[in-house]
Amino acid sequence: MFLVQLLLLASIGAGQQDQADECAETLLVQLSLSTQPREPPAATERDLVFTHVPYNFGHTIEQVAFAGSGHIDVYASAQIIVDGSPMPVEKKFDMLQASMQPQGEIWGHMNPALHGTSNVTGCPLFYTPAKHWPKDLADWYFAGKKTFGVLRDPYERLVAQFRGNIPGYGGAFLGFQTTMLAMWIQLSGRYCNGTWQVYAEDCTYVPQAEYFDSPYGITVPVDNRKFPTSANDVLAEHGYTNMHIATGDIMHVSGCPEVWPGDLSCDTKKLIREVYARDFDLLCKHFGYCDAGENVCLTEVPEMCPSNMSQKIASATYCE
Ligand SMILES: *[C@@H]1O[C@H](CO)[C@@H](O)[C@H](O)[C@H]1NC(C)=O
Ligand SMILES: *[C@@H]1O[C@H](CO)[C@@H](O)[C@H](O)[C@H]1NC(C)=O
Ligand SMILES: *[C@@H]1O[C@H](CO)[C@@H](O)[C@H](O)[C@H]1NC(C)=O
Repeated sequence: MFLVQLLLLASIGAGQQDQADECAETLLVQLSLSTQPREPPAATERDLVFTHVPYNFGHTIEQVAFAGSGHIDVYASAQIIVDGSPMPVEKKFDMLQASMQPQGEIWGHMNPALHGTSNVTGCPLFYTPAKHWPKDLADWYFAGKKTFGVLRDPYERLVAQFRGNIPGYGGAFLGFQTTMLAMWIQLSGRYCNGTWQVYAEDCTYVPQAEYFDSPYGITVPVDNRKFPTSANDVLAEHGYTNMHIATGDIMHVSGCPEVWPGDLSCDTKKLIREVYARDFDLLCKHFGYCDAGENVCLTEVPEMCPSNMSQKIASATYCE
């Protein structure tokens, strides 16, 4: 129903309800035909669909799925069409198909049909856990495929949000002067009176576990600690030979490069462990990362580890 309404909103004026419903049904069918493979794929061939957990390299994956490696310009112009233009959804799909790589995919934020605002979270649907999506839309998008998504270490993810310093997406932190103090204020402010302001900042503080919940949860997790190798392995195993993420394709944060989880106070870490308890459980279950005190950084992504690790390790907090 939601997709139908979305298409109505996007393409058809008010006061034409009956005709509009019919048009919208037709459009839905057309969308299904044009965006899903016509032949059902073999069991492990191209059988994935992507769930965008905010702040987990989702845009990099969507970029390479859509345009292939080394074509950020193609991706950027297409993303501007998706985000910025007032065109009807089906017209956006037409334009995307025209610039997409052969056998590309239109996943997550890239998908114009996922740009409604969720009633539950107030965030765009592409950043909202799929269990909260309208059922029709979720059935269309996931289409019986396996859902893959990235799982990130919670301290490291929050440090990245802090370093990103983006207002409205993860938060802006007063110009960095107070570094980890600002992080603490941010966290404690959101944890006011025992209530986590869970959907703030475009859902970037939502526990990742909510994107694993059924229905429509992630069943094929990608280890962010080993990104992009981990993502490339999953894509290759599932037959997506046209989607290989090179180092140069990765979009990452760059402020405060010396800050890492070892700089967080034990109070901050305790709060993070409380709020993100289920994320730590998932890391243990899926990847065997069962030490919730561990300080990690991303060795395969530029600028995601401090320059002098032995020095940082020597002064790091480690909190039971
Ligand atoms: C939000 O709620 C309204 C009213 O119940 C409903 O018509 C609409 O489809 C919902 N939108 C989404 C995105 O769930
Ligand atoms: C927190 O609780 C106190 C006491 O009930 C109340 O006065 C205060 O307004 C609350 N703060 C927020 C942000 O809800
Ligand atoms: C890293 O820090 C350690 C300890 O402060 C120091 O001895 C070492 O020279 C530093 N290494 C580099 C490459 O700066």
